[in-house]
Amino acid sequence: MLIIKNAHELVTCRSLESGPNAGKNFSTCSVIKNGALVVDGEKIVAVGKTENILARFKKKWASRIFDASGKIILPGFIDSHTHLVFAGSRAEEYRLKLKGQSYKSLHKKKGGIHFTVGETRRASEDELFFQAKDTLERMFRLGTTTVEIKSGYGLTPEDELKILRVIKRLKKTAKQDIVATFLGAHTVPLEYQNNRSAYLKLIIEKMLPVVWAKDLAEYCDVFCDPLGFTAGETTAIFSEARRLGFKLRIHAEQTAHFGGAAVAARYKAASADHCDFLNDSDIGYLKKSRIPVVLLPGVLLHLMEWKKIPYFQETVKKIKKADVALALATDYNPGSSPVISMKLVADLALRFFRMDYQECLNAVTINAAYALNRASEVGSIEPGKQADILIVDALSMKDYFHGPGDGKIDYVIKKGLMNKI
Ligand code: NIG
Ligand code: FE
Repeated sequence: MLIIKNAHELVTCRSLESGPNAGKNFSTCSVIKNGALVVDGEKIVAVGKTENILARFKKKWASRIFDASGKIILPGFIDSHTHLVFAGSRAEEYRLKLKGQSYKSLHKKKGGIHFTVGETRRASEDELFFQAKDTLERMFRLGTTTVEIKSGYGLTPEDELKILRVIKRLKKTAKQDIVATFLGAHTVPLEYQNNRSAYLKLIIEKMLPVVWAKDLAEYCDVFCDPLGFTAGETTAIFSEARRLGFKLRIHAEQTAHFGGAAVAARYKAASADHCDFLNDSDIGYLKKSRIPVVLLPGVLLHLMEWKKIPYFQETVKKIKKADVALALATDYNPGSSPVISMKLVADLALRFFRMDYQECLNAVTINAAYALNRASEVGSIEPGKQADILIVDALSMKDYFHGPGDGKIDYVIKKGLMNKI
């Protein structure tokens, strides 16, 4: 048994009502001053004020007592949206972006996603594995204890399976809990540009059944966008995916309003991600179907989409007013967001979206856990949940989030195991 005591602030991020912390609960993440917690094996067994915890749990029961004086304790971060398995670098292409070319135009000129697809197809399974493993290790040191990973840079049955096998290997070896998502519907590959219906057929009739039969993904995602698939095509993919048993996620309204949020609501997707062009009716549908929105401010930073910022500030206000839950993720990928740090994502949301400290913290923990259907296991510091915990060198949560940058994490505890950083 491990007892951690005397934390200057223990921030639990527990759900205030059942479900994510949305609406009026969004700005509260339950702070216990001079907090303590008890971990037994992989799980948290008690949380409270240090004096109460020490009165209940005798010191002699503990194999380790950790004094967290002058530190804060947070739940591990949950990154619910990444494209972490890929090969090659888009650094050269970024030069063109710096000169003013748009993300869309780069993609249309066989760059963008197509470039990374070419590199990823050429890479061996081992190359992909070792690069992704390294990324996950860096993410872990930055406090990310649960990560969703999408395929989507293969776009042939063989190459998508290759990526999904890498994700399966990562699941067995990484410190984090990994959630696997099939994104064969990322974009129509170059060889099918003049026959997109054949690619759609390939996804529906070949890829989905094999991925499901081999148990390689829990979720099916679609990039519903002018650069990806129409709302009608998304519906066709979702129908078959749902019939097979996949849960659903979606890239919605990213480069234009394209109907993805409405499809997400109709198909009860686990979350609607990006949402750069969300309108009032979409917010209504998401509210009705209780679907969390996942915002990805790393994309705004990397693609320098400053003009979208006022729009996002308005959308965030509307989302909060509608009681729709909001989560944040990195969208880690080589093109639109080579960002691995959830702390940086929170820093950006604070400034770009004018979200409060507590809102940011709920959005990277408990609400992100809900967006992945993992809230009964992770996302908050509560008895019965997995002991995924950060010990941070800061006097308050506000101080930690106030300074942009990675902050100073002393320990990342994963399933009860303390990792010194
Ligand atoms: O989430 N939107 C589609 N996919 C990624 C970007 C992929 C890329 O540029 O390689 C995203 O932004
Ligand atoms: Fe994405």
